[in-house]
Amino acid sequence: MHSDKSVKREHWGSKLGFILAAAGSAVGLGNIWKFPYIAGENGGAAFIFVYLICIAIIGLPVLIAEVLMGRTTQRNPVGAFRKLSNSPFWSAVGGLGVLAGFVILSFYAVVAGWSFGYIVEAIKGSFSSFTKVGASGDYFSSLTNNIVWIVGYLAVFMGLTMLIVYFGVQKGIERASKIMMPLLIIILLILMIRGLTLPGADKGLEFLLKPDWSHVTPQAILIALGHAFFTLSLGMGAMMTYGSYMSKDDNIPNAAFQIVILDTLIALIAGIAIFTAVFAMSENPAVGPGLIFHTLPVVFSKMAGGYIFAILFFILLTIAALTSAISLLEVVIAYFVDERGWQRHNAVITFGLVAFIVGIPSALSFNVMSDFTIFGLNFFDFVDFLASNILLPLGGLLISIFVAWVWGFDKALINLKYGAERLFDNHFWIIATWKVFIKYFAPVLIFLVLLNSIGIL
Ligand code: PFF
Repeated sequence: MHSDKSVKREHWGSKLGFILAAAGSAVGLGNIWKFPYIAGENGGAAFIFVYLICIAIIGLPVLIAEVLMGRTTQRNPVGAFRKLSNSPFWSAVGGLGVLAGFVILSFYAVVAGWSFGYIVEAIKGSFSSFTKVGASGDYFSSLTNNIVWIVGYLAVFMGLTMLIVYFGVQKGIERASKIMMPLLIIILLILMIRGLTLPGADKGLEFLLKPDWSHVTPQAILIALGHAFFTLSLGMGAMMTYGSYMSKDDNIPNAAFQIVILDTLIALIAGIAIFTAVFAMSENPAVGPGLIFHTLPVVFSKMAGGYIFAILFFILLTIAALTSAISLLEVVIAYFVDERGWQRHNAVITFGLVAFIVGIPSALSFNVMSDFTIFGLNFFDFVDFLASNILLPLGGLLISIFVAWVWGFDKALINLKYGAERLFDNHFWIIATWKVFIKYFAPVLIFLVLLNSIGIL
């Protein structure tokens, strides 16, 4: 069943609207929660250097390919693959993306829910008595052990996500991104300045800027490559879906470049804000996922003005997560609207609720279901691993193979040229480079990441 094609497809109201929404999708928990701790665990500056290379040679080319498929077909991922190939296999690859979006949303919203809950904790002043990470970690465990707390905030966050997507592309996603992204950047700059002005901040900066190459192991390179994917929302059709609301006169390579720069700068600034404060308060930078929820509350409790900065930080994290979660839900909604003829409003209510229900076992992994394991991982870690380490790289691999070898470059280039005529005429080498990267580098490197994920490498 297909929707009535006489109903006009929605479009972004402006070029800036698309860039802010796509940057909003890219900038999320990956930048502010995950990037600082994986950089912390893998040696700081040297890791960041490798990560920047991965973003440039894999992230940017695949981002251009995804947005191009969306804009060319004006369809959700399933419809986009079908329109360009007419093959059930490739349509199913689009379906894999929709599924990945759904799965990621379910556990992403759990962590985002903690972040929302931590705004409330910060306002209540719960962090003020923490002097040691142990106490802060115990407090975190007592919250996540509380089923009402963890499922309640999952519900609150999912509700907010649904509310924005309910209002559609222009009035919901674009409008929310235009308000939230500038706010995010302002808060981040305030936190960076606070971090840099703390006595002892230079040690944090040195950690971020002075490379220790002994940490750059093959494993670290693969982590950097995998993260380049996650942080740019690639491999599952989110950028394809957002690209499908673009018009033909937008310059895709230019827009993709701006999105990558914003995403990268924001991750680096978040790193500066966090590590200057962590080092100034003499805390350990390499504690892994607990960096934000265990270590930072202690850092804030020791810092002058920490009460306000703690509130600001968790607002920042929640905003970042929200602009990403809406893109995850939108992939699912676009599929049901385009392919199955659903009304947007019904689709949002139905699939938002289903994603919430699928999220519950992830939330319970931190308490009553902690002993339930699949392949040795609890439910939360399992879905995270499945989506981030298998489905996204697999999706990215198939997207680059599809654009380079199935759809074909000649056709792709004709479509890429719309809106980018000047770039084609004056700087064709950029396009030629893109071609080589998407054809050879991207598939080979992503394949290595996948082999690593499943334990072969
Ligand atoms: N890019 C987001 C982040 O860095 O947190 C995560 C994400 C959002 C991944 C949307 C995939 C996606 F489709």
